[in-house]
Amino acid sequence: MIVYTPIDISINIPDGDVLKEYFFNNYMTNLKETFGYTSLLCALISRNSVTDWRDATQVFADHTDSDLFYAPNVKEIFPELIEFVHTLPYKEIIGAVLNLHTEYLPPHQDEFINLNVDGPERYNVLLTPHYEQESFFICKDKNSEKIYPKILKEYPVYAFSNNKVFHGADKVLNERIILICAGILDEEKHDKLIKASSEKFKDYVIRF
Ligand SMILES: [Fe+2]
Repeated sequence: MIVYTPIDISINIPDGDVLKEYFFNNYMTNLKETFGYTSLLCALISRNSVTDWRDATQVFADHTDSDLFYAPNVKEIFPELIEFVHTLPYKEIIGAVLNLHTEYLPPHQDEFINLNVDGPERYNVLLTPHYEQESFFICKDKNSEKIYPKILKEYPVYAFSNNKVFHGADKVLNERIILICAGILDEEKHDKLIKASSEKFKDYVIRF
């Protein structure tokens, strides 16, 4: 089964200074005490009509709304990221966040959305120039050897199996930011994209 592949989608990456300034002014302040998640997250899109985008309990409340809500000014500041999320093979977008790991994230499996999908399910984008810096890893078992997927500079969009494969991140010393996208997959379109991408980038595909 394919567990990691670069994805054949071109994306314009936002200016690094603008990205970092936005991130540090807007990350959710109560993520650790509410959800126990130790990395910093900055929400861009939610299915909840959030009044305070720095409050993780609002952003991640079980959604009841069918509309998508965008954090203040993100459509103007990061039009390329919003457009990108809308090009992904989703039947329904659930949300999108920026993520910065401030400490070691131990191996774990995620447990939500598309649980029935084998293979890469989660679409992420590396937004800062950390292509050569190992951080994101996958591993067969919790304690087995860490494998660091190659994230490509020209194609920084990648997909991996986050529900069925252990993954984590080593802490990096300077600010490494990724975009994490979540949605309910259109399995036919998704399979097509994974197949084409894994053929194009076959040298970088990881299979377990
Ligand atoms: Fe995860």
